[in-house]
Amino acid sequence: MTENEVMKTIMYRRAIRRFEGKQIAEDELEQILQAGVYAPSAGGRQGVIFAVCQDKEVNEKLGKIKRANSNFRMSTATSYVSKEQPSIVDDPKLINAFYDAPIVITMFAPRNFLFSVEDCAVAAENMMLMATSLGVGSCYIGQGWTAFADPFGQEILKKWDIPNGYYAVMQLLLGYPRKEDKHPMAKPRKEKRILRF
Ligand SMILES: Cc1cc2nc3c(=O)[nH]c(=O)nc-3n(C[C@H](O)[C@H](O)[C@H](O)COP(=O)(O)O)c2cc1C
Repeated sequence: MTENEVMKTIMYRRAIRRFEGKQIAEDELEQILQAGVYAPSAGGRQGVIFAVCQDKEVNEKLGKIKRANSNFRMSTATSYVSKEQPSIVDDPKLINAFYDAPIVITMFAPRNFLFSVEDCAVAAENMMLMATSLGVGSCYIGQGWTAFADPFGQEILKKWDIPNGYYAVMQLLLGYPRKEDKHPMAKPRKEKRILRF
């Protein structure tokens, strides 16, 4: 459909929630982080902090806390997130909201800044596209603060030395997609979302 490499990457990117257990290559992780660091930021303030956790035990504990603190309606036969890469909304057996991803990047930003969420979101998209281009799977996880909503989470925030006044906006999961899985298909796009004048 297109020869443009950026467009091809955009079209190919999908949320990946089923990961190989192994870590991704260090140079790939570094490129993905640089893609985040070079994202736009409101007023050029570069306020986002990227806390990269590759500790399996910590990621699992935080993912379980997040799952326990999430309120949502489970999927139905006609309304679901993904059949190929099920989310916690799709499958009640998933008890880790980070899906055992080998890398969980929590993105922190100032609590009292109007554009903290946008700053994290644009950095995350840069990182997801870079990950896709390298064959690394990624998934955006919203409401990052719910992973820290108990004493273990609070202890981790202290250990990571997160500055006062910063909060966890979101997480970005990274890992190689499982070899046995087919790459997921995009859902059909809803019509009439582009208005041209
Ligand atoms: C703001 C935002 C929050 C999201 N939060 C979650 C989440 O908490 N858990 C999850 O599994 N996926 C989450 N996702 C991923 C979406 O479910 C996914 O992007 C969507 O189903 C479309 O699929 P695709 O990314 O493969 O095109 C989030 C995506 C966005 C943009």
